Amino acid sequence: METLVSTWSRTAQILPENYVFPAGERPGSVEVPLCQNIPVIDLSQDQEKSQSQRVQEILAACQEFGFFQVINHGVSEDLIDDTMKMAKDFYDMPIEEKAKVYSTDRSKSCRLFTSTYSYDNEKFHFWRDNMRHPCHPLDKCIHLWPEKPTNYRNIVGKYSLEVRKLSLRILELIREGLGLEDGYFGEELTGDQILSVNHYPSCPDPSLTLGLPKHADFNVITVLLQGSVCGLQVYRNGEWLGVEPIPHAFVVNIGHQLEIISNGKLRSAVHRAVTNSQEARTTIVNFISPLLDTIVEPAKSMVDNSVPLYRTFKFKDFLKFFQEKKGDTEAVMEAYKIKP
Ligand code: OGA
Ligand code: NI
Repeated sequence: METLVSTWSRTAQILPENYVFPAGERPGSVEVPLCQNIPVIDLSQDQEKSQSQRVQEILAACQEFGFFQVINHGVSEDLIDDTMKMAKDFYDMPIEEKAKVYSTDRSKSCRLFTSTYSYDNEKFHFWRDNMRHPCHPLDKCIHLWPEKPTNYRNIVGKYSLEVRKLSLRILELIREGLGLEDGYFGEELTGDQILSVNHYPSCPDPSLTLGLPKHADFNVITVLLQGSVCGLQVYRNGEWLGVEPIPHAFVVNIGHQLEIISNGKLRSAVHRAVTNSQEARTTIVNFISPLLDTIVEPAKSMVDNSVPLYRTFKFKDFLKFFQEKKGDTEAVMEAYKIKP
C-alpha cells in the first residue's frame, strides 16, 4: 500500500530518485503545444450529416491519426460527471478502504496497484496509481468491483454499459468504412471490456518523470475520459503534442488488434501521459479487447489484393508477449509482421 503514489506524494517535496527517468526519456517541458488537428467528430444523429459522412470522417481519422475525439456521443453528461466524481472519490478514500482493493497479485482481475504490472522489476516507477476491473458482461463481474465509495457499482455500472454501447457504435462505423462483413466485431473480438482508472497525483517535478510510458494500446479500441486536466500526449511527426481536454468528450484510439485486423490500414498511435505540479489528474479508460482464446488475423477482405502484413495468432499469446516487451510497441508489431 505504501508504494501507491497517492499515499505518500502529498508530502513529497522532491521527486524520489526512482521516479527520475534517464535524460533521454524525460518529458522535459510538459507545456507542449496542443495538437491542433486531432479530429473532433460530432456523432449526433439529428444533424445534417449522413451516416456515410460519419463513416468517412471516422475512417480518415483512424488512418491518419489513430486518434480522435467524439462529441455529442449520446452518453449523458450527468453520468460522465458522476462517474468522474466516483473515480476521484475512490482515490480520496481513507487508506483502510483502498487497502481492500489493493493487490500486487496480477491474476486478480479487480485491483488497485501503482506504476505498471512489474513494479518490483522496474528500474524507474511511473507516477500513477491504477484501479481496474472487468465490466462485461456486467452481471458476471460487478460483484468483484469496489464496494466503496457508496454507489460506485451503480454509477460505474451504468457508465460501463453506456460506454460499451458507444464503443460498439464506433466500431460499427469503422466496420462499414473498412467494408468488413456485418457483425465482424462480435463478442469474440469485443467480449473483453476493462475499466481502468488512472490517478496521477500532482508531482513535484513533472519534467523528470512520466505518468505512463510511451506506448500504443494492445487492444481493439480504447475510449478514454480525460477530464479537464491536460496530460495525454500523442507522438506525431517526431514530436509530442498534447490532446486537448474537451469537456464531456471521449478520446478514442485504435489499438494493435484493429491495426492488424485492418492489415495495417488503420494505425495505432503512440501516446504517453505526463504529470503536472498543479493538480491531480484522473482518467477513466475503457479498453475493448478480444476474448483471450480469439484467433486474430488480418480480415480476409483486407488482404484480397495484397498480402497479409501480419501473422495469425491467439490473442492470449499476443497479450503475454506485449507484457513481456513492456509495451515496446515497435518490437511487438515487428514480431507479428510477416517477413517477405
Ligand atoms: C492508457 C493511457 C492515458 C491517460 O491507459 O493506456 O494511454 O491520459 N492513458 O491516462
Ligand atoms: Ni494508452
